[in-house]
Amino acid sequence: MPTLTIAGYALLGITAIMVLVLMALLVSLVRMSRMSRHAKDTRVETSVMSAALQEALMRLKAQERAMAARAEASEQLSNQIISGVGAGLIVVDREDVVQIVNPAARRILGLPGDGRGVTLTSLLSSSTPLAEVITNTLRTGVPVARRKLRLEGRPSHLGVSVSPLAGPDGVLQAAVCLFTDLTEVIELEEQLRLKEALAGVGELTAGLAHEFRNGLATIHGYARLLDPSRLPEAYRPYVDGIRQETSALGEVVTNFLNFARPEPLSLVPVDLGAVVERAASDLPIETGRIERTGTFGEVLGDEVLLRQAISNLLRNSIEACAAAGIEPLIRVHGAAEPPHLRISIEDNGPGIPADALPRIFKPFVTTRAQGTGLGLAIVQKVIVSHNGRIAASNRPEGGAEFRIQLPLATTAR
Ligand SMILES: Nc1ncnc2c1ncn2[C@@H]1O[C@H](COP(=O)(O)OP(=O)(O)OP(=O)(O)O)[C@@H](O)[C@H]1O
Ligand SMILES: [Mg+2]
Repeated sequence: MPTLTIAGYALLGITAIMVLVLMALLVSLVRMSRMSRHAKDTRVETSVMSAALQEALMRLKAQERAMAARAEASEQLSNQIISGVGAGLIVVDREDVVQIVNPAARRILGLPGDGRGVTLTSLLSSSTPLAEVITNTLRTGVPVARRKLRLEGRPSHLGVSVSPLAGPDGVLQAAVCLFTDLTEVIELEEQLRLKEALAGVGELTAGLAHEFRNGLATIHGYARLLDPSRLPEAYRPYVDGIRQETSALGEVVTNFLNFARPEPLSLVPVDLGAVVERAASDLPIETGRIERTGTFGEVLGDEVLLRQAISNLLRNSIEACAAAGIEPLIRVHGAAEPPHLRISIEDNGPGIPADALPRIFKPFVTTRAQGTGLGLAIVQKVIVSHNGRIAASNRPEGGAEFRIQLPLATTAR
């Protein structure tokens, strides 16, 4: 077996060392290349992740913007609904503080300012029944559905619904009240009912009253034939009594006939301003005055009947003022607002007695000892037969006010 020399051993050793160094180099090269690939992968991953994050962020921001826009749009829509809706809306919180009053509510109730932030009772001091139903729902949580409320003055009738509003915890937070002005509808219903009732009873009662008047005229005639000077002293007052009573009754029956007889109207264009002038100048007024303001126009109507209606109203004002010892100041104001002419007759008298007010247009309703109670019934009949409307109220500053609405024939003059 050949033996190696020292130099051979040394060569072998060097070769082995070099192989080892080479292997170590190779291993570290492989490792380095792996590490650089890993670093590259990590960089790619990070950039992918940051892009995804950025996209998610952008999507979130877009969603936020869309939600804010949607919230703004829905708030705008609800504001538009609240201010555009024709019904009145009042929202009151449980501390009785008004949170929302929409324009329709302010218009219907004639409220000044925007009404928010004040207490309900101070906001609705002139419409107490409305404040009462809202307060009731706030206290009890019981809703009110389509209730008709009667108010003093105008509007005289409201259709009201009140709903309780509970928070997420179920505790009552507020009351929401929606209402509409029913005044015109109810007045129209009443006028229609009246027209029908008048047509129904008119003919029958007019026939009866006519007979009655004939009988009265006969009694009155005989009583006039009796010469008191030829009667024993004791009987003379009876004859006077018969004469007075029959003539007073005759007047009642004549008035009633005017009221009940279904009269055919002779329609011609009538200047209402002139009618008011004539009615005013025909009336016996010693002190005080009747003034005419505004614009009047022509209506298609029966001049005699219209003058009688205006005259009855003016006479009532004068009589009411005289009874209260007040110098009458009567203002007849015309407002020609096509297609209607509105006339108001206001006085400075004592006003219409509250208990009589709801009934004054009914026949035989009177508070005057000498009255027949037919004056206003005739007025109403005349106005209704001209397709008009009439309403009465007491003015807040005192005195009575009658408001008439008639269809205009032409435009105002
Ligand atoms: N301007 C007014 N001021 C106060 N009260 C009034 C006024 N107009 C009418 N009234 C009230 O209405 C009632 C009815 O009036 P209406 O004209 O129908 O009858 P009258 O005046 O009593 O009697 P008549 O007119 O038949 O002689 C009156 O009795 C009065 O109480
Ligand atoms: Mg009268």
